[in-house]
Amino acid sequence: MNGPVVITQPKTAFQVDRLTIKYDDGQGAVYAPLEDFSIKIREGEVTCLLGPSGCGKTTLLKALGGFVIGESTGGVLFDGQFQQGPTPEIVMIFQENNLFPWLNVRSNVAFGLKFMPREKVRPEALDEMLEAVGLQEAAKRYPHQLSGGMRQRTVIARALITDPRVLLLDEPFSALDVSLRRRMQQLLHDLWEKTGMTMVMVTHSIEEALYVGHRVLVLGGRPAGVVIDADTRDPALKDRYSDAYLQLQRRIESVIY
Ligand SMILES: Nc1ncnc2c1ncn2[C@@H]1O[C@H](COP(=O)(O)OP(=O)(O)OP(=O)(O)O)[C@@H](O)[C@H]1O
Ligand SMILES: [Mg+2]
Repeated sequence: MNGPVVITQPKTAFQVDRLTIKYDDGQGAVYAPLEDFSIKIREGEVTCLLGPSGCGKTTLLKALGGFVIGESTGGVLFDGQFQQGPTPEIVMIFQENNLFPWLNVRSNVAFGLKFMPREKVRPEALDEMLEAVGLQEAAKRYPHQLSGGMRQRTVIARALITDPRVLLLDEPFSALDVSLRRRMQQLLHDLWEKTGMTMVMVTHSIEEALYVGHRVLVLGGRPAGVVIDADTRDPALKDRYSDAYLQLQRRIESVIY
């Protein structure tokens, strides 16, 4: 006999609750990119954030990561607990590429391990990670001796080696050429398949958002609100030439540009 059908709701990773963030604009006025902003981000999903420049995407991502910025009211719950500050479970890859120039690739990646409890660090983790991102041969090179893609892979490896529960990415591939960008998107996708990690990624590329994301949120307006919230799991949306893809692309473009 069949048992009852159990529909499990995906868990909420982040609950942004009436968040207002105010910045001093440097000229005596206050500017609030986010005002009374609420949203839920589901666990185990890849959520992509799109929106015009300056609308508050990075601000939102930093708030998810617990990085205190500006003056804020409301808050972010992670796992049901109020975010008080950054935690090792959530790793953010910032918009600026920020490797340590005085450390080689291996040491840059190993730097991530400093934040882990010693008993959780496996000695082979470093080599495995360098292998996974294809940087073993370049392990002794310094950042200035790397291509843009290698630098970005080093940044990603440094974030992933800590085995975080959540990965926040702010336009991680924007400086890369198209073919490398596709490879990095694939790497991210493979990583998600292996770990089911919660990821939130800001991107300016609609194509990237639809390819990598399970859900695409388009922010817009002042203060920012969610203008499109689309489930993008449908395989038709992974095909850039399908009608469904083109239709959604047109809808998103009409609010971004
Ligand atoms: N530390 C800060 N102090 C003052 N204003 C800030 C600060 N950080 C961001 N802002 C302002 O807040 C607004 C939102 O910035 P944010 O960086 O979140 O935008 P964004 O959507 O990520 O833009 P982009 O796509 O260009 O990266 C902008 O008007 C920006 O000038
Ligand atoms: Mg930004």
